[in-house]
Amino acid sequence: MENLCKNYVIAIDGEAGTGKSTLAKNIAKKYNIVYMDTGAMYRCVTLDMLNKGISMDDTKKIQQMLDNIKIEIENNNGEDRFILNGEDVTKKIREKNVNDNVSQVSHIPVVRERMVELQRRLANGKKIVMEGRDIGTNVFPNAQVKIYLTASAQVKAKRRYEQNKQNGIDIPFEEIYNNVVFRDNNDKTSDVAPLKKADDAFELDTTNYTLDEVENIVVKKIKEKVILDD
Ligand code: DC
Repeated sequence: MENLCKNYVIAIDGEAGTGKSTLAKNIAKKYNIVYMDTGAMYRCVTLDMLNKGISMDDTKKIQQMLDNIKIEIENNNGEDRFILNGEDVTKKIREKNVNDNVSQVSHIPVVRERMVELQRRLANGKKIVMEGRDIGTNVFPNAQVKIYLTASAQVKAKRRYEQNKQNGIDIPFEEIYNNVVFRDNNDKTSDVAPLKKADDAFELDTTNYTLDEVENIVVKKIKEKVILDD
């Protein structure tokens, strides 16, 4: 059944290393709809905290920081740029110090509260594909389409290992594998917003599929729910 409403949310949630970002970006590009990388927003908050030297348990300072934070997303030649308090931080939010702290920051309740608020505001009135961990369960529980991606730890570690190799980063496979298992477990058992599939989400195990195959399956699912302009 196709949905005739003008605006819609396609929620793509799931574990890291399942190809979520590539899939969401490709869908947005192909159908000329807005793409929102919610992980990047948590990364911006993390960078702001690190820049200001605010510790994870200083709720008062975190709240003050959130009252003043300005996160803007600009699209530049088809590429999203993240502007934090006036500075382009697109590159900085992918660096090691942010990587090492973002998971902890994303589990601070007041941070989640504000980010969810912002995500809902930015998505208002748009056709949008949102990628994250809690979009279908919490941010937009009424999203027209919900996709939940998984993959075996072995495959996720292999994807990361190959990605690192391409970027000249040399970390042994076993270390990466152990990290993947640890992170998955941590994400799913967290007290604050644990990663879980929404009851009405379409779950796809990407272990044995290429990115193209995943995209074809997901687009078919989306087309059952909303009209995409081909
Ligand atoms: O997708 P990513 O690696 O850029 O996400 C960065 C961190 O933010 C990761 O630890 C998971 C967390 N995150 C979250 O808690 N909720 C979201 N909606 C998106 C990301």
